[in-house]
Amino acid sequence: MAQDFEVRRLGPSFFAEVVGIDCSRGLEAADFERLKAAHLEHGVLVLRNQMLSPEQHIAFSRRFGSLLVHSMSQFNLAGHPEILLVSNDKHPDGRPVGIADAGRYWHTDMSYRSEPALGSMLYARAIPSEGGDTSFCDMTAAYEALEPAMQQRLEGLRAVHYFSARWEREARQGLRPPQTQEERDRNPPVSHPMVRTHPETGRRALYAGGFTIGIEGMPDAEAVELLDWVERWATQSRFVHRHAWRLHDVVFWDNRCAMHLASNYPETMRRHMHRTTIAGDAPYCRPQPAEAAVSA
Ligand SMILES: [Fe+2]
Repeated sequence: MAQDFEVRRLGPSFFAEVVGIDCSRGLEAADFERLKAAHLEHGVLVLRNQMLSPEQHIAFSRRFGSLLVHSMSQFNLAGHPEILLVSNDKHPDGRPVGIADAGRYWHTDMSYRSEPALGSMLYARAIPSEGGDTSFCDMTAAYEALEPAMQQRLEGLRAVHYFSARWEREARQGLRPPQTQEERDRNPPVSHPMVRTHPETGRRALYAGGFTIGIEGMPDAEAVELLDWVERWATQSRFVHRHAWRLHDVVFWDNRCAMHLASNYPETMRRHMHRTTIAGDAPYCRPQPAEAAVSA
């Protein structure tokens, strides 16, 4: 039976909430197409009041593509490795159940891979009564608001993304154990265009974020300055929506056109989320239609 759900924009140029949908039931094709179209239009959706078992969460996520299993396997849900635990729960022996402090910097998930994640679907099973918000920024709007000269400058550039650089920075702060050589070798540096054409909407977006370490063919100091500038530009309040979680929200973001940032919360409060990650393809930048088309 078709579901009667509503989609309402919450953010300045993107981000919508979906009310009245039950993702635990198999969605009919027409409902699925409507939901997928809303996701492409708004970039990030929050689906309210979902009651999902791990099997249902996985089945719903798979409608959007194949799922990736996170390389930090100790934090994957037992019996369901497609679910990564973002949690501050502890095992009886004190070991962490999941990643408690994931993503406290602007990024898109798995941009350090040659084929980064299409999107992620994060399900709130326990939330603190304060803190723990997740902010999102609209990289399409941020690109479109750039001066044409800056659009052209960025269009030809490829940023280098490297997982271990981020990890080592956090290890130096005592937040992570040092990586082994094998772990470093698992995700070697990759480069991606800084302006990315969305493969489904055809719209252009900025593409950078917290795993970048440089820009191909550019001196390091200049590259770092430009990467910092792009991040400051894209994360201006006019491009950002800050999501205050409600229990049983599912937030589904499109990594191809949005970055996100997790916020702190009191360590004494419980936060337990299940995340699935949908596989994506290699970023590319398609040339714009030729200027000649507009000359008479
Ligand atoms: Fe993330």
